[in-house]
This record gives sequence, structure tokens and C-alpha cells, in this order.
Amino acid sequence: MDWKTLRQKREQFRLKNNHKYLPEVSLVASKESTAMFNVAWMQQLVPYLAGKTHPVWKRLFNIQKCVRTNDINSVWDASHLTFFEMMGNWSLWDYFKKEAVKYSYDFLVNELWFDPKKLAVTVFEWDENAPRDQETADFWLQAGIPTDKISYLWADDNRWTPGPVWPCGPDTEIFYYTWEWLPPLESNVKDDEDNWMEIWNNVFMQFYRDESWTLTKLPHQNVDTWMWYERMCRVLQNKPTIFETDIFQSILDIISKYTWLQYKWNERRFRIIADHIRTASLLLNDWVIQSNVWAGYVLRMIIRRMYYNLMLLKDISDNDLKWMLSEIVTFVSNNTRPLKVEEVVKSLMDEILTFKNTISRWLKVLDEKIKNLSWNSLDWKDVFFLYDTCWFPVELTKEICLEKNISIDEDWFKKELENQKERSRSSAKFQKDIDWSKYLEWIPQTKFIWYTEQNSADCKLLKDFEVNGQRILIFDQTPFYAESGWQKWDSWNITLDSWETLYIKDVQKYEGVFLHFIW
Ligand code: ALA
Repeated sequence: MDWKTLRQKREQFRLKNNHKYLPEVSLVASKESTAMFNVAWMQQLVPYLAGKTHPVWKRLFNIQKCVRTNDINSVWDASHLTFFEMMGNWSLWDYFKKEAVKYSYDFLVNELWFDPKKLAVTVFEWDENAPRDQETADFWLQAGIPTDKISYLWADDNRWTPGPVWPCGPDTEIFYYTWEWLPPLESNVKDDEDNWMEIWNNVFMQFYRDESWTLTKLPHQNVDTWMWYERMCRVLQNKPTIFETDIFQSILDIISKYTWLQYKWNERRFRIIADHIRTASLLLNDWVIQSNVWAGYVLRMIIRRMYYNLMLLKDISDNDLKWMLSEIVTFVSNNTRPLKVEEVVKSLMDEILTFKNTISRWLKVLDEKIKNLSWNSLDWKDVFFLYDTCWFPVELTKEICLEKNISIDEDWFKKELENQKERSRSSAKFQKDIDWSKYLEWIPQTKFIWYTEQNSADCKLLKDFEVNGQRILIFDQTPFYAESGWQKWDSWNITLDSWETLYIKDVQKYEGVFLHFIW
């Protein structure tokens, strides 16, 4: 069954069962939200789950594009992606567990002809806040799932909520056996997880979790579900992974055509490249602009990680790369969502070319660090330096280190990220009343000198000025690492015209211009 037929069948099924279609929303969460991305369409439904009447109807369905990067290191196995589509349906104070289970089973077995012997489910075990969800298990039994294919799992697995303080509830997840043969009697999700693939989650939204993590009952019971579109295609097309389905196969063929390499010998990198180009294209199409913060950072990280993997496969000319991207983005535009193809390709190329100019230097820096390690672990300060000053995504450092069997201390890295935020908050206090652009007219961005053997450099002074009694110098290039916040760099000095030695207390970046604050 091709992807179009699955979408049609599912639409017919939901309409037949009295659901109304609601359009999807952008990948990016609105400015008022604290979330970066819309990780599930149900985020729009929170007021209605909590008791407000929905203006359209109480049974809804749609298909929502999503970006989630928490599984990025698994993007190369049979079933993980950074961009995917969720086939969701909702009941707002209408049907509950019994009908939700029946609809799910009916759709899979009676509409799509899934072999029921290859299905297994999980339901909520219990905890101090809620009892075991025996009801749902009984409905599965009645539908036709045998007892040995029903597993009871704890809240970590079988209670779903989009955030810490949100409506939530026990969920029941549906899995499909991934091998051609039937599962052995003793195989189920709890004891044999690796051989089962989750295809559908039904959440029974009946609680609200507050700041103290206490659950209170919502005034009404709701159902919130998500069926994995790409994984369903894998099952329906009988493919070993999602990448061989009609959603991805042509992308792999295009990569093969331009690299002159075969997919079967390079599966991992081909899959990462295909997934990441698709994700980046959809993010760009939803107006995300690559940057060093928030959604822009995720976009930048995905494009750079994609290029790193491509670069290791083949040294493609810029021209060929552009053609390859055009073909892939056009395919995605015709098969996923209509895209502004030309603009997307241009933005991808811009980011890749910036990255390409510097990546060999960073890899050299990283290589040096790795060569001098005493333990098999990279210092978090180095990881942070690469991230903050070289715009080298931490995910990429991690990937390169993993390939060399070197670990990085992510906890320290995250702590330093927090410290940095704190420092920039306090330095922002000093800077907030200053209109820097006034001082920086005609000043070009400062070139950062990545790697100097001697730890010194000759730089041309472009401006020497004072703001509120603070002396500031700007150069054409600099070896000083711009910290976001006050630091006492007393061992760092500048010798002006070979006679005046000045000490630096802080280096700040403003729109690419490095400001050297003098003691
Ligand atoms: N909103 C639920 C999920 O994303 C269905 O798993």
C-alpha cells in the first residue's frame, strides 16, 4: 500500500466514524509558548481537554508534521526520524477507552489487514497516583489481543504528557512484530522490546499534573492518539526499515546518483543525510532561520550534521551538491508538503558553504584535543569552546567522539550553558541601555582566529572608544574567545603599537563584532 492510499483509507475511516478534520499547525510553536516546536498537535487542544467546548466538534482528526530531536542518535536504525508525521485523532468528552481500543483494532485489522498475531500492546501498570489500567487491558482482550501479548509498564513508559505541568493520563501503545515470521508465544513488548516497533499511542487524558506533580482528575475524559505514519508505511510496504518505503527510497537514489556510492554499503550515513535534509527543508519552509539559539540552532545543527556525514562519504562539488539538494527538496515538496523549493535550497547551500569554510579547522582543533587526551573523555570546556565560539554543534562533537570511542561529559556541558546564560543576564544589565549600533557603523564583523600555534596574533586596530567610562577596542581579527558575560581575563593582554600593554576584562560579541573591554 503506497503512502497516498494509507492517508486516504485513514481519512475515510475517521470520517465514517464521525470525526472532523482540522488542519495542521506550523512545526514551530507560537511565541507565547515556552516550547520550541509543536511536538504534537494536541498542544492546541489543552483548553478543551481541560473543559472548554471546542468550537468545531468533539471528535477530531488530522495529520501533523513534527520535529523531535531527542532520538537524533538513533536516526539510522529501522524506525527513528527527526521529522515525522503524526496521524492523530481526538475525543473531547466523548468516547473513551472502550471505543478508542475498538477503533484502533478495527482500523489496523479490518481496514488495513494487519495480522492480529503480530500485534502486541502495553498498558499502564500502577503507581501511588493511579491504579493499574485493567479496564484498557480487558478491552484489548475483548478486541482479540491475547493475554500474553499485553504488557503492563510503569509511568515512565505508559503515562503521557506533553510537558511537566499539563493534562496527562495513562496510555496504551500498540506495537507490531518486526520480523517476517510470527512472534514466539513468550515474546511481548516488556520482555522482548527490540523486536517490536511502536506504531500507535492512545492516551487517556483524564488528569492534570500540577507543579508539585500531583494528579487531579480533569472534569471530563478525553482521548489523544498518535499513529506513526512512516512506521505504518514500513509495515504496509513490508520493508526492513522506514528508509526503504516510498517516502524515502527516491531520496536514497538521488544521494546514490550524486555520490556514486551504493546505499547498501553506506546505510547509516545515507539515512542520516536523507532524514536531515527532509527535516531542515521543512523547518526552513516554516520560516526558521539558522542561528545559534533556539529553533535556529536545531536547524543549524541538523544541516551541519548532514553535511559532515555527506563530506565523509564523498567530496561533492558545490554545483553537484546544489543539484542534489534541488532534486531531494523537490521530491520532498511533491511527497510530504509543498515547499518553497528555490528558497529552501538557497538557505541550505548558504549554511553549508559557511560551514564548509571552517569545518576542517575545527576538525583539526578537535583532533589536537583528542590526541592529547589522558583519559578517553573530552573535557567539557573544549566541547563548550567548540560549541560557543566555533558554532560547532555539540551533537556533532558527540558523534565524532562516539565514532572514536571517546566520551564527553554532557552534564558539565549543560551546567556551563546555564552559567553562560547567567553571565549574559548580568552583562546584559550593563549593556541594555547602550545602542551599540551607533558605535559600530561601518565596522566589519571581526574574524575569529581559530587556531594559533603561538597563542598570539597581529591584528589591526579599527576603533578605540569609550562608553560610560569603559574603554573598548575593536580589531579586524582576534584570537580572544568572546565570553557572554564578565570574566577576569588578567592573563590576556594586548600590546598596542608595540608599546602600550592593556589587560582585557571581557570580550563580547555584538552582531559578529568582538568588543574588547579593557581594565
Ligand atoms: N500525544 C500523544 C503522543 O504524542 C498521543 O504520543
